[in-house]
Amino acid sequence: MKSSNTWHPAHIRAHRNLSPTVREFEIRPEGGVKPWTVGSHLKVKVMIDGREETRSYSLVGLHDPAVYRIAVKLAAEGHGGSRHVWSLEDGEELTIGEPDNHFELAFNAPQFLLVAGGIGITPLVGMAQMLAAKGADVRMRYAARSAAELVYADTLQLTLGERLQTYCSDADERLNLEREIASLAPGAQMLVCGPLGLLDAARDAWAAAGRPPADLRFETFGNSGHHAAEPFWVELPRHQLRIEVPPDRTLLDVLAENGVETLSDCCRGECGLCAMDVISVQGQIDHRDVFFSPHEHRANQRLCACVSRVSGGGVVLDTAYRAD
Ligand code: FES
Repeated sequence: MKSSNTWHPAHIRAHRNLSPTVREFEIRPEGGVKPWTVGSHLKVKVMIDGREETRSYSLVGLHDPAVYRIAVKLAAEGHGGSRHVWSLEDGEELTIGEPDNHFELAFNAPQFLLVAGGIGITPLVGMAQMLAAKGADVRMRYAARSAAELVYADTLQLTLGERLQTYCSDADERLNLEREIASLAPGAQMLVCGPLGLLDAARDAWAAAGRPPADLRFETFGNSGHHAAEPFWVELPRHQLRIEVPPDRTLLDVLAENGVETLSDCCRGECGLCAMDVISVQGQIDHRDVFFSPHEHRANQRLCACVSRVSGGGVVLDTAYRAD
């Protein structure tokens, strides 16, 4: 069972390519743009092989009364959601949810470090703009594969000037998180969005520096894991069910298709609503959420069904959801 969500008809007002693999879309909802805060995401219905699924994209920039802006990276190995969005032309219709925020910016810190990896820049653009407009002490570190993939770098340069530093891995430029964290003022907040490897490194460096966990906030995109997606089996003794999850589907979707009710909301591994109890595992759980801590991931007692997978076997699960 999904948490309550309201869907609205909308259409594409415009689109433009920001890089060879990232395309920005302006989406005009028929009922008008709802109020939203920086860090929010927007759900979009996509069609994949004739099935309707939901994808969630961060809203880019600041609130615009006319449109929502999202930037979508075409994922060659993804499940097809990005391909569907990329196929949309100007004027074409789509169905969207309402903005929701699991990546809130608290404005009360004395200093802010924004760290982006690749397409993880999307929620941080608006944060940088908002913080700079408020005169906050903000700096950004932005890493991508190449200069061509540093989308929104021009906008950010205008906003932040030399408070922005970029890193291209093809030029062997490396972001040194330990050094960045060491140079922060006490009480500073770090906001990170990027692939799982960057988040893991950020969490480790933050903890090693003895910084309070509450001052680190992060978000990921629910498709980056430690292992390539492969099929795995799932057993649910409570439902007397054994099902297969193909590489291009999420566990959550396959459970729903088999009549297993599970709470969910973000579908990006952030809110923890879809967490299920692990009874046993064969192979390795590829935890792709940012809801549980690295310690909880290692304990393997729960997993987020919306993003996490299993490599080399399968898992016996119990659903935490009770209809009553
Ligand atoms: S639905 Fe939010 S973590 Fe899975």
